[in-house]
Amino acid sequence: MDKLVITGGIPLQGKVRISGAKNAALTAICASLMAEGEVVLDNVPRIADVEIMLRIINRLGVETCWEGPNTLVIKTPETISRKTIYKDVKMLRASNLLLGPLVARFKEAEISMPGGCNIGIRPMDLHLKGLALLGADISCEHGFIKAKADKLIGNKVYLDFPSVGATENIMMAAALAEGSTIIENVAKEPEIVDLANLLNTLGANVKGAGTDMIKIEGVPKLIGDRYAIIPDRIEAGTFLIAAAATRGNVTIENVIPTHLEPLMAKLREAGVTLLETDDTITVVTDKEIKPVDLKTLPYPGFPTDMQSQFMSFLSEVRGTSVVVENIFENRLQLAQELRRMGAKIKVEGRSAVVEGVPRLQGAQVKASDLRAGAALVIAGLMAEGNTEISNVKYIDRGYENLEGKLVSLGAKINRNFKPVMV
Ligand code: EPZ
Repeated sequence: MDKLVITGGIPLQGKVRISGAKNAALTAICASLMAEGEVVLDNVPRIADVEIMLRIINRLGVETCWEGPNTLVIKTPETISRKTIYKDVKMLRASNLLLGPLVARFKEAEISMPGGCNIGIRPMDLHLKGLALLGADISCEHGFIKAKADKLIGNKVYLDFPSVGATENIMMAAALAEGSTIIENVAKEPEIVDLANLLNTLGANVKGAGTDMIKIEGVPKLIGDRYAIIPDRIEAGTFLIAAAATRGNVTIENVIPTHLEPLMAKLREAGVTLLETDDTITVVTDKEIKPVDLKTLPYPGFPTDMQSQFMSFLSEVRGTSVVVENIFENRLQLAQELRRMGAKIKVEGRSAVVEGVPRLQGAQVKASDLRAGAALVIAGLMAEGNTEISNVKYIDRGYENLEGKLVSLGAKINRNFKPVMV
């Protein structure tokens, strides 16, 4: 099992190009199955989650190939299998986003019920309620979710919670439903807008993405076309925090600054100077950093996917900061690993009280999920001495060439491949 070894204390310096967004790419791949002909997706990150998703859809009979380092071609035949298998789904929860596309175009879908994961139980009730309102017959048996519909009919859907995945599944199903669909209290993340733009590029009629209400006029079919995925705002934010945490001076390129507004506001509140152009952000840490409180909320609130990384940053900020995780019920596990590095963090329920210490100490730690893994990399970059991070497989799920990009910014980080003992 691979480990990352980091020698901390080096301020990051230089420029780094951000990859395409994992959470937009995974959804775009699912949406592509709805189109007749070829869909060409540009700016797709080469990460483990994308490779797993491709394996899942290949197993359904969908043809895919890479036409260049980050350009993916997807061709879905008229008839494919509509049943995913548990082994695949348990590895990638996002495969639940195949539900809407498959039932919309192929009239049925059988998705192995994704289990929970380290950050929470991750239910699908809102997904299923929305698809049922569009006329799908939903049944859950033997660990599978089955959805069937000879024809989906537009309807009005109100989401009890602005779930990203539920919004996406219902949008994709409604795109091929007969008539109009209105979805209210929807997620407003940039990835939702990206999905709407992709669907409209393929011939759909989706309006209002990015607001509280999305209106969709169903169309008879979608036709393959070419589309470029948005940059990854979470990878971008991870690098901004790493630069600030090491008191460095870094420019991140190929980003959409407005997508990072919630994080930038919090970094500025802490005293970090950020300079923006149309597609770059530069971090300058020239002032003393102050403690700040943060609470995660649906977009445009502070993103839950940036919470762990920010907690690492706060671990060395003199004073008391309070972090509240409102989205997932179990996303503060990072604290116990940071405590191994000398951090002073007290977790009570969904809150973590962080007392900044002068310096973290390198230690052996393990990643519990993707973003906690990235947060431990940041902690390792900050700490005195060496930090060894295991469970690197989590980091590989969502970050394209993370250590290569950090090395290009002056970090001392390498991956020691521990052959799996046979
Ligand atoms: C997406 O997950 C992202 N994943 C997550 O990123 C991200 O953390 C999350 O949105 C929130 O922004 C992808 O896009 C592939 P949700 P998703 O449905 O869609 C509850 C990462 O690190 N809920 O918005 O699963 C749920 O329990 C990953 O890149 C229901 O109650 O998130 C949770 O508390 C982690 N019923 C809250 O909503 C439902 O039917 C947010 O979940 C669905 C969700």
